[in-house]
Amino acid sequence: MEGSSDIDLSKISLRPLGLADIDDFMVWGTDEKVAIFCTWEPYATKEEALNYIKEKILPQTPGSGQSALTTGQLVPFCSNSGSDRCRGELGYVLGSKYWGKGIATQAVKLVADTIFKEWTHLERLEAFVDVDNVGSQRVLEKSGFLREGVLRKFFILKGRTRDMVIFSLLSTECEA
Ligand SMILES: CC(C)(COP(=O)(O)OP(=O)(O)OC[C@H]1O[C@@H](n2cnc3c(N)ncnc32)[C@H](O)[C@@H]1OP(=O)(O)O)[C@@H](O)C(=O)NCCC(=O)NCCS
Repeated sequence: MEGSSDIDLSKISLRPLGLADIDDFMVWGTDEKVAIFCTWEPYATKEEALNYIKEKILPQTPGSGQSALTTGQLVPFCSNSGSDRCRGELGYVLGSKYWGKGIATQAVKLVADTIFKEWTHLERLEAFVDVDNVGSQRVLEKSGFLREGVLRKFFILKGRTRDMVIFSLLSTECEA
C-alpha cells in the first residue's frame, strides 16, 4: 500500500502476522496517533516489536490470534472452550497515513465474514471502543455492528478511567 492514494479495497486480504511483517508493523507500532486509544505506548525499537510478535502472536493457535494487513493489524480473540465460547472480541489498528480510505471498514467486514464461516460455534463478535474514539465507532457501524450501550467507568486507559461503547455483530446478522 506504500505510496498509493487510491486503494482497491477488493484487494484487501487476511493472513497471519509473522516476523517478516516487522517493517509494516513498525509503521503503526511507532505511530503516536494510533496509540492514543490503545493500552500500549508506541514501540521504541524494532527489537521490542519483534519480541512482542515472538512472545504474544506466534504461539497463538490458528483462529484465536492476529490477522495482518500490510500496514495494519486486526485481532479477533476467540475462545474455543468454556461458557464464553459463543463470543469473540475484535480489535484493530491501522497506520494514520492510511486513515479515511475505508480500509478498516473493509477489513473488519472481512474478518467478521471469515471468522463466522471458520468458527461455526461462534455466535457473537464484540468490540469495546472509547467514547471519544468516533472514527472507530463509525467503522463498526459501517460494518453492521449494533451499538448496544455505554459501559461507564469500565476501563483504565493510561491512568484515566474511561467510558466504553460496546458493539456487537451476531453470526445471523453477518451479510456474507
Ligand atoms: C479506527 C481506525 C482503525 C479507522 O481506520 P480507517 O481505515 O480510517 O476507517 P474507515 O476509513 O473505514 O472509516 C472511518 C470512518 O470514521 C470517520 N471518522 C474518522 N474520524 C472521525 C472523527 N473524529 N469524527 C467523526 N468521524 C470520524 C470517517 O469519516 C469514516 O466514516 P465515513 O466513511 O462515514 O466518512 C484507525 O483510525 C485507527 O487505527 N485508529 C487507532 C487505533 C484504534 O483506535 N483502534 C480501534 C480501537 S477500538
